[in-house]
Amino acid sequence: MTQPIRIEPATGRLGVLTPGMGAVATTFYAGVLAIRKGQALPIGSLTQMGHIRLGKRTDNRNPLIKDMVPLAGLDGLVFGGWDPFPDNAFEAACKAGVLQAKDLLPLKAELEAIRPMPAVFDQNWVRRLDGPNVKQGETKMDLARQLMEDMQRFKAENQLDRLVVVWCASTEVYEEPQAVHMSLEAFEQGLRNSDPAIAPSQIYAYAALKQGIPFDNGAPNLTVDIPAMVELANQQRVPVCGKDFKTGQTLMKTILAPGLKARMLGIRGWFSTNILGNRDGEVLDDPDSFRSKEVSKLGVLETVLQPEAYPELYADLYHKVRINYYPPHGDNKEGWDNIDIFGWLGYPMQIKVDFLCRDSILAAPIVLDLALFMDLAGRAGQKGIQEWLSFYFKSPQHAEGLYPEHDLFIQQTKLKNTLRHWMGEDLITHLGAEYYEDEN
Ligand SMILES: NC(=O)c1ccc[n+]([C@@H]2O[C@H](COP(=O)([O-])OP(=O)(O)OC[C@H]3O[C@@H](n4cnc5c(N)ncnc54)[C@H](O)[C@@H]3O)[C@@H](O)[C@H]2O)c1
Repeated sequence: MTQPIRIEPATGRLGVLTPGMGAVATTFYAGVLAIRKGQALPIGSLTQMGHIRLGKRTDNRNPLIKDMVPLAGLDGLVFGGWDPFPDNAFEAACKAGVLQAKDLLPLKAELEAIRPMPAVFDQNWVRRLDGPNVKQGETKMDLARQLMEDMQRFKAENQLDRLVVVWCASTEVYEEPQAVHMSLEAFEQGLRNSDPAIAPSQIYAYAALKQGIPFDNGAPNLTVDIPAMVELANQQRVPVCGKDFKTGQTLMKTILAPGLKARMLGIRGWFSTNILGNRDGEVLDDPDSFRSKEVSKLGVLETVLQPEAYPELYADLYHKVRINYYPPHGDNKEGWDNIDIFGWLGYPMQIKVDFLCRDSILAAPIVLDLALFMDLAGRAGQKGIQEWLSFYFKSPQHAEGLYPEHDLFIQQTKLKNTLRHWMGEDLITHLGAEYYEDEN
């Protein structure tokens, strides 16, 4: 046992603000409200349902994570957000078509009360959408100031103690980091000059971090994954994490690929295609938005399989990812994978995965966990990139010079060991030799 780190208690109420009040955000709000009323279980949420082993296997200490670390409780969560469409959360949830009327109607009044604040939105960054509920400002710095006022007003009006921001808005078009992203000074100058390379998501992130509010990025856009934002997060001593929630097909990939590699089975090809018909699918139908997603999805196999260390098994792997907008499927995405593997003496085999998933049903518990863990990290004095939350992301943000960790099981160990470390518990190495030592 070591000394636990100091963590401020989770007193009062926590505001969870989501830029974007579409399918994921509204499924998250509705889910928490239903769970609070005892109408549903928090399935898929590690913070709510997961246990953590402490000490030796023979100690029989296996509390719930939420009983081991001081997380904010669900009863004290208050939701808000921004969206260029003026629909309240009930209307937006009905349009998103994820949850059925029988689940939404008992929550109608509470969801209707969640009305989107005018968004910082620019069609150059999300070309397929155009809504009227948008802020006007002289400069991008002016827009950032308006967002800061929104956050402060929301906090005061709802008598909140703390806020976290989770990006649940559309995927912005792909961009490489530019000079304006390289330092905080250049970025602030860029905000004053309305530099076109500053994306709306970065204006939200700036507004949050500047006020010491943790920021999670659920989409593949760079947002906080640029030196200027990491500098700001470190300077303000506030945590950031991202990018791109790991839900359907990539979740499967990071479950299967480490298993095949553990058994030294070769992979010749991995073809992944998706059909989905929600608004996210429509945005991703634009090649530049898809490019952001493609980059985030493609990196996974490369790092899990380490072709440089295993050239005979993985150097020739052909990896292809496709997303097709197909309205009849709505939010119920279908993800097909064809995996060409080979074994002993090079004999070929195939694995086919057809995952009939529900995107937002998989994403909503991740929003909850990230909001609670980032609030915890803030109270625990953690600043900058929170790599221990890689577990939740397709393209985990990481320090420069490091490669990201994609293997879901290593990510889980990293997450749980971080919690053990903070609470002064022994880290679990899985060595276990002490159970077999000769007692004499
Ligand atoms: N559902 C999943 O499994 C999953 C997984 C990984 C990432 N994501 C990402 O999460 C995000 C949300 O997904 P979704 O299915 O809810 O999409 P959605 O299209 O239903 O909702 C996104 C909402 O964001 C709004 N929006 C766009 N630009 C905005 C801005 N600048 N400010 C505020 N709001 C803005 C849109 O109007 C829309 O209502 C997407 O970027 C998606 O790629 C989702």
